[in-house]
Amino acid sequence: MRTAYRTIRPLLFSLPAETAHGAVHRGLNAIQHTAIEDRLRDRLVVDDDRLAVEAFGQSFSNPVGVAAGFDKNAELPAILGALGFGHVEVGGVTARAQPGNPRPRMFRLVEDRAIVNRMGLNNEGAEAVGERLRTSPDPGIPVGVNVALSEATDADDAPEDYRYTYERVADVAEQGSAACRTSSGTVADYLAVNVSCPNSEGMRELQNRDALEAILGELVDAGASPLLVKLSPDLPGPAIEDALAVVDDFDLDGVIATNTTTDRPSGLKSPNRAETGGLSGKPIEARATEMVRFVAERTDVPVVGVGGVSDAAGAYAKIRAGASLVQLYTGLVYEGPTLARDINEGLLELLEEDGFESVEDAVGADL
Ligand code: FNR
Repeated sequence: MRTAYRTIRPLLFSLPAETAHGAVHRGLNAIQHTAIEDRLRDRLVVDDDRLAVEAFGQSFSNPVGVAAGFDKNAELPAILGALGFGHVEVGGVTARAQPGNPRPRMFRLVEDRAIVNRMGLNNEGAEAVGERLRTSPDPGIPVGVNVALSEATDADDAPEDYRYTYERVADVAEQGSAACRTSSGTVADYLAVNVSCPNSEGMRELQNRDALEAILGELVDAGASPLLVKLSPDLPGPAIEDALAVVDDFDLDGVIATNTTTDRPSGLKSPNRAETGGLSGKPIEARATEMVRFVAERTDVPVVGVGGVSDAAGAYAKIRAGASLVQLYTGLVYEGPTLARDINEGLLELLEEDGFESVEDAVGADL
């Protein structure tokens, strides 16, 4: 199947990035809940207790998840589970449906194994996404919802805006516990507060202490739990420390590090590096891992490591730097649908080589 992806990748890469993403999305949707999904699950889910992770009160069968942005409208959790992922973070979801920025707004940097995007949080809105989650069959893996600030909302009104969205998707968690939960009780939603998208005017300023306190205070008051915050890799150290102080004050459940960067590291080769937007993939890998380490050294809550993961060694480096879970998006574009399996199998080998009994045993080994 890895070879099959190598064969169709040039075809996909001959299409504009967003068109290719749309085609993949439709293809995955078409095989979801069919016999093909069962076949994929048999081949790609690595079933091994050493991969299991307990974090923020939820059970994950393996540490490798799909990062926000891949499944913006919560259409694909079940098929992503069948590809071997241990969780998926859907969204970013905003209060109302919004179209995002004009196209083109997603660019491959093939030579750099990277993507630049300025999607601008195109999504169907909280009502529609909540309804889909509520009515979809149990996907069998935890589904987190990434909640973002609406384009039309001023920063001053951000707390109410996030609360509105939360309340529409929270409903899912509550009803889900009665209607959709598996007998093993493994369906477990979490809320990721996205204050780090570089493509939404003024959004990253919400990471400052006062703004973050207001938003998280509102969500805690609304009963949001487990509640995580997703940070930008462009935050300087003192600003990260400020954000972590708020995480501590509000007793949050976890930190996701990191989102995309507006920086363009030297050495990027692709001409698309000149496009405006957030950079993801290989060029941000080391920086994201350093941020995982910085955060993990300063907090006791679980850290979700995101940025440039595209193989087992990269996932393992984030875990050793303190990540309880990892997520990826860009790696999936370059490596294809066997990536979760390849990472999970590779992780088992790496754990064995280093004498760890489980992923959890290796979390923070380098700290
Ligand atoms: C993203 N990302 C993202 N993050 C988020 O919090 N909310 C979102 O809606 C999106 N949307 C989005 C769209 C596209 C096209 C990309 C490539 C990325 C960021 C993503 O979740 C992740 O944090 C970064 O992409 C870094 O991980 P990778 O891609 O290097 O594995």
